This record gives sequence, C-alpha cells and structure tokens, in this order.
Amino acid sequence: MKAIDIRNKYLNYFKAHGHKIIPSAPLIPENDPSVLFTTAGMQPLVPYLLGEKHPEGTRLTDYQKCVRTVDIDEVGDNRHLTFFEMLGNWSLGDYFKEESIAMSFEFLTKELGIPVERLSVTCFAGDENAPKDEVSAECWRKAGIPEDHIYFYGKDDNWWIAGEEGPCGPDTEMFYDTGKEPCSHECQPSCDCGKYVEIWNNVFMEYFKDKNGYTKLKQRNVDTGLGLERMTMLLQGKETPYDTELFAPIMDLLKEKTKNDNIQSRRIVAEHLRSSMMIICDGGRPSNIDRGYVLRRLIRRMTRHLRKLEIDLSELSEIIDKNIDNLKEMYPELEENKSTIKNVIIEEKDKFIKTLEHGEREFNKIVNRLKNENKNLIDGKTVFKLYETYGFPPEITKDLAEEQGLEIQVDEFDKLFKEHQEKSRMGSEQKFKGGLAEQNEKTIAYHTATHLLHKALQIVLGEHAKQKGSNITTERLRFDFVHPEKVTKEQLDEVEKIVNEQIKRDLKVTCEEMTLEEAKKSGAIGLFENKYGDKVKVYTIGDFSKEICGGPHVEHTGVLGRFKIKKEESSSAGVRRIKAVLIKE
Ligand code: SER
Repeated sequence: MKAIDIRNKYLNYFKAHGHKIIPSAPLIPENDPSVLFTTAGMQPLVPYLLGEKHPEGTRLTDYQKCVRTVDIDEVGDNRHLTFFEMLGNWSLGDYFKEESIAMSFEFLTKELGIPVERLSVTCFAGDENAPKDEVSAECWRKAGIPEDHIYFYGKDDNWWIAGEEGPCGPDTEMFYDTGKEPCSHECQPSCDCGKYVEIWNNVFMEYFKDKNGYTKLKQRNVDTGLGLERMTMLLQGKETPYDTELFAPIMDLLKEKTKNDNIQSRRIVAEHLRSSMMIICDGGRPSNIDRGYVLRRLIRRMTRHLRKLEIDLSELSEIIDKNIDNLKEMYPELEENKSTIKNVIIEEKDKFIKTLEHGEREFNKIVNRLKNENKNLIDGKTVFKLYETYGFPPEITKDLAEEQGLEIQVDEFDKLFKEHQEKSRMGSEQKFKGGLAEQNEKTIAYHTATHLLHKALQIVLGEHAKQKGSNITTERLRFDFVHPEKVTKEQLDEVEKIVNEQIKRDLKVTCEEMTLEEAKKSGAIGLFENKYGDKVKVYTIGDFSKEICGGPHVEHTGVLGRFKIKKEESSSAGVRRIKAVLIKE
C-alpha cells in the first residue's frame, strides 16, 4: 500500500465514523511565531481541546504536516525524520476511550489488514495524579488483544503533553512487531532494539497541567497521531522510510550521481531536501534566528552532504525537480510553489559555499600559526569558534586537519558543542511551551486589540493594509501588514485614536459560524488565502470590525485598557511592523 492510499483510507474511515475532514494547518503556525513549527496534529487544535467550540463539530480528522527538529543530528540513521506526516482523529468532548480504541483496532486490523498477533499495546500504569488506565486495557481485551500483549508503563512512556504545560493525559500506544528476534528475554515494546515499532498514539486528554499541577479540563478529549512514513514502511515490509516510494526515487537518483556511495549522506540529502521544500512551501525562509535558522541548518547540512557525495552542486536543480515530481501527488502545493522553492534553496546553497570558502581561509590562517609555533593540535575552542562564528562545520575542520597532519582537541569541542546544543534545545522547547500554554487573559485581550488595529490601519492607510503576520505575548502585540512606506507619526496617532475610541465605546464581541463564501460576502476581513475547513468563525466587534479568526476574544472591548503604539518599523520589503501594548488604567 502506498503512503497516499494509507492517508486516504484513514481519512475515509474516520469520515465514515462521523468525523469531518479538516485541512492540514501550515507547518508554520499561523499568527503564532512563538512556536517554531507545527509538531503534532493537535497543535493547531489546542483552543478546541481547551473547550472552544470548533466550527466543524466535535469529531475531526486530518493529515498534518509536521516538523520536529530536536533529533536533527540523528537524521541519516534508519528512522529519524525532521519532516513527517501525522494522521490524526479527534474527539472534542465527544467519544472517549471505548470508541477510540474500537476504531483504532478496526482500522489497523480490517482496513490495513495487520494481523492481531503483530500488535501489542501499552497503557498508563497510574500514579499520584491519575489512576491506572484499566479502562483502556479492558477495551483492548474486548477488541481481541491477548493479555500478554498488553503492557502498563508510567508517565515517561504513557502520558502525553506538548512541552511542559498544557492539555495532557494518559495515552495508549500501539506497537507493531516486526518479527525480529527479541533482543533479550526482557524485550518488550518499551525497548528500542527495533523489534517493536510504535505506530499510533491515542491520548485521552482530560487534564491540564500548569506550574501548580494538574486540573481536569472542561471536557474529555481524544487526540490521536499515526506517523504515515513509519506505517508505510512497515506495511511494505521495508527496513527504513528511505526504501518506500516517498524517498526511493531520490535515493536512486543520488546513487546514480555519486561515485562515493555513502548511504547516510544520501539519506541526509533526501530527508533535509524534503523538509526544506515543505518549510519553504509554507512560507519559511532561511535566516539566523528561530525557524529561519532551522531551515538554514537543513539546507547547509544537505549541501555539505552533497559535497561529501561529490555530487556537482549544479545538479541540485534537477534533484529538486525530481523530488517535487515524486511528492506532488501527496502535496500539490509543492508544484505550485516550485520556482520559489528552487530559488530559495539554491540561493542559500550558494551563500553557504561562500561561508565554507571563508571558513577555509580562516582555517588556513590557523594552520600557518600552528606551524610557526611548531604545534600540531588545534584546540577545541578554536574549532568551536570556526563553527560558531563562521558556520564552519567541525567535521570539515577535522577532515582538513587530517590532511595537514594536525589533530583536533575533540573532547573540548564536544563539551562546548553540547552546551551550545543544550541552549538551543531549551530555546525551542521554551518556544513550544509558550505557544501552547500562554492563552490567558492578557493574550486574549491582545488578540482582540489586534483586530481593532487591523481595521484601524485599513481605515487610515487604505484597504491594502492587510495582515501579513501577528505575534502575541503577554507583554505586547506585534502586527505585520502590507504598506509600501513608513507610516507617518500623524497616521500612527490617528490609528491609535481610532482603536482607543472603539475601546471606550465598549463594543460587544460576538462570534458566528459560516461558510467561507458567506464570510467573504459579509465583508469579513481575514487571511482568505489560508486553507480553512468548510466552516469558519467570524468575530464581529460592534459595528467596527468583522474578521475571520479562530478566537478566543474578550466579550466586550471596554476591558482592554488603553492602546498604545510603541514602535513602527520595516518587517520586509513592502511589509511594515507595529508593536503595541495595552495599558491598564
Ligand atoms: N499528540 C499525540 C502525539 O503527538 C497524539 O497525536 O503523539
């Protein structure tokens, strides 16, 4: 079965069981730059898991494009991927354990034809925060899973939360037995020898965790996630995702082009290229910070491995074409954005080659210095500096050092590198946490203020002043919009005045659900080019603003306080940025 067939079977199965198919949210979370990438199907659904009403109802299903970068350095082995597709189904206060498990079991055994003997499941063992999940175990027994294929584990294995705070709960995970010999007599699903592969995770999300501990959510939800690449590999009896149709044509093309076949490098090129294409397609661009930096690293690492394979870099264009051809049935948006994707990747590759040349010059200076001093050891700090300041990859430093008969102080470098990695890992976890958990009174108020600002800008500057991006923290709002030149002081004063007038008028904020067509007809503003489901929510603020949005918002504008613009600056070509605060008086 091909990946696309598994995806279609999944969506159709859940559709037949009362679920609405919703579109994949973009990889780059809309209006939420505090999160690096969409990392799970549940992420765009957080407000609804917390009790907000979803316009499509209480049963949803989708395929979600995801990027997880914590394991970026592991890519090249036989399982880690940075981009993957997660199939998911959700109950928003609708069905719970029994129905969820019955559907998962039926889908795996009947739709995908997996023999029951191949399946093992794990359930939560219980602790001081939540009881042992006997209910799930009983559902599995009833479905037909034998007792010795049911395991209980603690929070480390059978509890799911995104980051440190947010909606969470015990989960039950399904494992596929590859048929390999057990690694020991203790071999079981929690073991990562490769015999058991996790294929699906059903989270029974009925808790909310914050720094004070656990509380019960308003509703009991189900959140499931099934990794498509992994399932495709298992059903096709393949050893790695690179052997499936998702990657095999690129792996073969790379093999044709290289004399020095290094399978790990081919995998890294194929994987990072796919990931980069998907990120660029959803609006990501290389830069030195946050998600732009992740994209930069992916493209650089890919370029390095193309060099390692001794593939002429002018062939990259053809490799991208082939990759898009291979994936366009699953992701038609790749074909639509082909020229942008190619331009961004090739330009970044060219920049990186310059960096490498620059780094090589610095390296040569170091070599000359050492030779003059009659030394033959490059200390770890110097290697790290080449990496951090010039972006010069340590393995290249190592290769060049070897050529010159020099050694490098690996331990010291590793120590510095680990510290650096730890810092950036903490940074991205922090971001993920921030994006999900920080939905409180302050951010909700900024959200409503953003709608007022958007409309006020259109009144003062003209209808072209459309939203390009938005970022909200508890401290301020940031709003990017189309405008060709600097906004004058007078215009900013006028915008501020209009927003404050609407706050004084204490306008009521109401929400209606309608189709996208109806929303357009009603005059609502919003990001129409985004993909929405069949129904959208339209938030109306008195007679002033009407905007498509997922919410939540305050109930009336009087609670916002005084609106003050702090800064106006350029964001990118033709796009301006405003930062503003709400001051409680
Ligand atoms: N949120 C859970 C996961 O990512 C299930 O979708 O595994």
